[in-house]
Amino acid sequence: MDNKFLKDFLWGVAASSYQIEGNNSNSDWWEWEKQGKADNESGLACDYWNRYMEDHDLLTELGVNIFRTSIEWSRIEPEEDVFSEEAIKHYREIFQDLKKRNIKTQVTLWWWTSPIWFQKKYGWHKKASIKIFAGYVKKVTQELGDLIDMFTVFNEPMVPLGQGYLAGAFPPGFCNPCKFIRAVNNIARAYKESYKIIHKIRPDAQVGITYLYNWYESEGFGLLLRTINRIAQWYRIDLLGNKIKGFQDYVGINYYRLGKIKFNQKNIKMDSRNQIYFGFTIEEDKNNVMKWITYPEGIYKVLKEAGVKFKLPIYVTENGGPTRAGIEDKDRIKFINEHLVFVHKAIEEGIDVRGYNFWSLMDNLEWLYGYDPKFGLIEMDYKTLERKPRKSFYAYKKIIAANGLE
Ligand code: BGC
Repeated sequence: MDNKFLKDFLWGVAASSYQIEGNNSNSDWWEWEKQGKADNESGLACDYWNRYMEDHDLLTELGVNIFRTSIEWSRIEPEEDVFSEEAIKHYREIFQDLKKRNIKTQVTLWWWTSPIWFQKKYGWHKKASIKIFAGYVKKVTQELGDLIDMFTVFNEPMVPLGQGYLAGAFPPGFCNPCKFIRAVNNIARAYKESYKIIHKIRPDAQVGITYLYNWYESEGFGLLLRTINRIAQWYRIDLLGNKIKGFQDYVGINYYRLGKIKFNQKNIKMDSRNQIYFGFTIEEDKNNVMKWITYPEGIYKVLKEAGVKFKLPIYVTENGGPTRAGIEDKDRIKFINEHLVFVHKAIEEGIDVRGYNFWSLMDNLEWLYGYDPKFGLIEMDYKTLERKPRKSFYAYKKIIAANGLE
C-alpha cells in the first residue's frame, strides 16, 4: 500500500489569534481572565502580534502550504461600529507575509472571543447579534478578503455556546437553556448571512465552518447509553449543522479524542471542566494532562461518518494532543503518525479529505487551562518568548516533504 497523499494535499498547522497574539484587552476573554475564571491570564501569550515574522520563518522551515489562523473581532471593531484601520493594516501585513511565502491562508472570523461591548450590550442570545456580526464580516471581507484563501466563519461554535450558555464556564457565563437555544439559532442565522456576504464580495471564495468532531462511544449496550451517545452526536454536529445545510463549501473537522460516556448517578451537577454532564461522565486517561483518551482509529471513523453526512470536501482543520512541559514529545510524534495512517485509510476508501492541520504550531493559551497543557510542535518559553522546535516539528516536516508517511 502506498502511503502518499494526493499531489495537492494541503499540509498545515493551526493556531488561533487569541491563543497566540497576546495583549488583547478589548476581548471578552481578557475580562473573563481578569475575573479569575481561567487558570492563567493570557498576558503576552506568544506575542505573535509582534513576532509573527519569526513564526512565519518557522512555518517556512516546516514546509507547510497552508496556515489556519484567525482574526480577532475585538481588534477590528474595538467599539461598536468603529473599525480600527490600524488593526486591519496589521492583519494585512500578516497575511501578505504568508502569501509571499506561498502559504495559503485559512482564516477563521470568530474563534470563541467577542469584543467586550458586544458581550455587554448584546451577546449571541440577542437577535441583534446577527446584524452586528454581519457588519463585521462585510468589513473584513472587503478589507482583507483578497488575502484569504479559505474562510471559516465560526470555529466549533457549539463548544463556546455550550460552555457559555449551559455550563457557565465561558463568557457570558449563563446556565440558561432558553438563552442557549436562542444563541444557537442566532449563530446559525449569522453564519448563513456571512456565507452570503462573503460570496457576494468574493464569488470564488471557499466558505465553511469547523465542528469539534470527536468520536463518542458508550460503555455497555444499554438502550439508555446508546440514546445518550446519539444525543451527544446530535448535539455536537447536527443541532447546528442541520440549520446551515446548503451553506457550506467544505466541512472542517477538528478531531482530538475518544469520548467514552458512562453513567454516574452520584454526579448530577453540570461540571464541564470535570467532564460531568447531568449524571453522565466521560472516561478519563489519568496519564494525560487533560485526561483525554487518545484514539487514532477515531479519526477514521469520524471521517467516514462525515463523508456520508455532508457529501462535501473535508479538511481536517485540527488534530493534536496535549502533553506536559518538557516530556512526552515522543508521544506527539507517535500521535501524528498513527492519526495520519487512519486519515490515509479514509481517503483510500473514497472519502474526499483534502488537507490536514496539526494543532498546534506552538504551545499557546489553552483557554480555561491556561499555559499548562502543551500542544505545540514548537516549545514556547513564556518568560523569554524563545521558540524551540521540538523533535516532533522535524518529524512532521519530514512527512510534509515526503507528502506522506514513509
Ligand atoms: C479549539 C482550540 C483548542 C483545542 C484544544 C479545539 O477544539 O479549536 O481553540 O485550543 O481544541 O483544546
